[in-house]
Amino acid sequence: MEVKSIDWKDGKVVIIDQTKLPLKETYLEIKDYRELANAIRQLRIRGAPAIGIAGAFGVCLAANGLDTVDYAEFKQRMNRIIDALAATRPTAVNLFWALDRMRKIIESNNGMKPNDIRHNLLEEAINILDEDRETCRSMGEHGASLLKNGDKVLTHCNAGALATGGIGTALGVIFTAVKQGNKIKVYADETRPLLQGARLTTWELMKAGIDVTLICDNMAAWVMQQGLINCVMVGADRIAANGDAANKIGTYNLAVLAQFHKIPFYVVAPTSTFDLSLKSGKEIPIEQRASQEVTEGFGKRTAAEGVSVYNPAFDVTPNKLIAAIVSEKGICYPPYKLQT
Ligand code: MRU
Repeated sequence: MEVKSIDWKDGKVVIIDQTKLPLKETYLEIKDYRELANAIRQLRIRGAPAIGIAGAFGVCLAANGLDTVDYAEFKQRMNRIIDALAATRPTAVNLFWALDRMRKIIESNNGMKPNDIRHNLLEEAINILDEDRETCRSMGEHGASLLKNGDKVLTHCNAGALATGGIGTALGVIFTAVKQGNKIKVYADETRPLLQGARLTTWELMKAGIDVTLICDNMAAWVMQQGLINCVMVGADRIAANGDAANKIGTYNLAVLAQFHKIPFYVVAPTSTFDLSLKSGKEIPIEQRASQEVTEGFGKRTAAEGVSVYNPAFDVTPNKLIAAIVSEKGICYPPYKLQT
């Protein structure tokens, strides 16, 4: 059974608290959209498709909490709340994509009773979740054709079930290839500073019985040079029309190293991660996070008091380093002219 990162149950959003993994498998039941917005900000729920789904359910929580029976007032207050949910994290476009779908429900239900709109909003949020499950399945099938029995795959951050509503993006491909009978070995980057690779990817893969070895981020070049890697497979948070792909900080390093070692570098992401309004990756907003994540990650100070810190949460891999982009629609090869 795959891990369920997020679900809707009895008027509440249920998420697995990813900040507690792998030590504790704790589930949070969230009733208030402000609490959900905080959970997104604090990475209790994280990963591009999963935060889109969370945003959509956040809209449902907010709609249920509004007492008005007047359409105009409902729309005005909901639009403000949707803006607040959109302000939680800036890079993964899936959040804005999902919130736009929710906004469109309110627009197209023009003049209807808020009670009926609430029902339609919930239906749309559940569609977003269900579609993502199917999208992951389809990406897995397409992507598995890039892998062969015995392959050794390096991955970064967490691009698994925890990051989506289904089996994951890059890890979804690995789960599918293994299910098809291939023996795949995974090397998981630790992923400084918040250790999504060490805490989440290894946990998910071990739970699924997949051979995984954890390495520190700065070991990747050496591991490649030793011939231990056949390909790099990662997810993405936003992909521009020319194929430039933003993903967790450290991904670009791997793409450069992969090119030097003549190893294919693949990106796996649903079309809800494509931002065709952006010509290139230069336009992708990069989230900057608190310096404490670097100087005292997990509560223990590891850098000199008062040191200045640069902590971008994402980087952009230029399209020319990407051998293929896998989406639910199929596999794109360079030169990229992405469509949805
Ligand atoms: O800051 P995070 O943990 O939300 O970053 C997530 C990633 O960078 C993932 O690799 C990305 O969302 C793609 S996988 C669905």
